[in-house]
Amino acid sequence: MLKYARVTGWGKYLPDKVVTNQELEKKVNTSDTWIQTRTGIKERRLAADDEVASDMAIKAAKDALAVAGVKPEQLDLVIVATVTPEMIFPSCASLVQHAIGAKNAAAFDLNAACNGFVSAVSTASQYIGTGTYKKILVVGSEVYSRILDWTDRGTCVLFGDGAGAVVLETGDGPAGFLSFNMGSDGSKPDILYLLGICGAPANKVDDNHYISMNGSEVYKVAVRSMTKSCKKALADAGLTINDVNLLVPHQANKRIIQAVGKKLGLNEDKVFLNVQKYGNTSAASIPIALCEAVEQGLIKDNDNIVFVAFGAGLSWGASVLKWGTGR
Ligand code: COA
Repeated sequence: MLKYARVTGWGKYLPDKVVTNQELEKKVNTSDTWIQTRTGIKERRLAADDEVASDMAIKAAKDALAVAGVKPEQLDLVIVATVTPEMIFPSCASLVQHAIGAKNAAAFDLNAACNGFVSAVSTASQYIGTGTYKKILVVGSEVYSRILDWTDRGTCVLFGDGAGAVVLETGDGPAGFLSFNMGSDGSKPDILYLLGICGAPANKVDDNHYISMNGSEVYKVAVRSMTKSCKKALADAGLTINDVNLLVPHQANKRIIQAVGKKLGLNEDKVFLNVQKYGNTSAASIPIALCEAVEQGLIKDNDNIVFVAFGAGLSWGASVLKWGTGR
């Protein structure tokens, strides 16, 4: 029989440095009103000069393990979803695995940009479902402040830094992940991209290692794909929108989130929002949001929680989680 992957622990880390919209007004030609009206963002956190993705991941991971009551050496696997690791290799996951003392765990990074967390929990759940592994740490950790062009008002106001983590453990149901829906359309890589360091020299067009984005194009795909993905994941779980207790979406833009909620027919109080405080923290946004939803008492046993995300690729994914730690 296939096993269910339960979420038994959660943790988050946000750097101390708060950057408000008013502070960004001094850097680029923007305004607090424009940013809040178009995105809902009021402020974001930025990593300290000496802080890297693995530092933040380790802090979130330790909190998640403490909540789960799982010792690091009990972990079978560590997955870190990130596109901003301090090194391409070794993986951020291996650095985290060593730092937390997960000496019996395998480790790898997963790159699906802002869809990284949903992709990572989906991957982890397959290992648990088949009985290959019993305890898995999934972390999203991002330092987008290092890949932003701080003179480009179209992107620098949107993102922030942070990390979130969950521990997944084997359960016999009914709590656990019930379904996943994932998709990708790689036909327009130019609407959201970050160049790597290994492009063919003959084809090299520039040395820009900052995010490039066509915001309005991304916006349209985001709303469409997230709505469709949620509907498919719910149908696969044998549930309807009326069964959803809380949508915990990727926090990129309040308008995108509200549009998805509206298309799905969900009341606003069933859609979790914290983008106003942190901006878009990419693969970290859903686990950070989950932690805050739990802290705010918004999630109880047997609730149906839906995670949904989209990101560069473009790629998207949704998953339905019946909440219950088994404790
Ligand atoms: N401050 C002030 N003006 C800005 C601005 C800023 N920070 N950024 C862009 N503008 C300007 C544009 O230059 C444009 O000016 P123009 O009409 O003179 O050309 C105007 O605002 C409108 O831009 P537009 O792109 O049409 O606005 P929008 O309503 O689509 O909102 C985004 C822009 C970026 C907020 C929105 O498209 C979005 O959120 N897209 C998705 C991005 C995203 O989530 N990316 C991450 C994916 S995981």
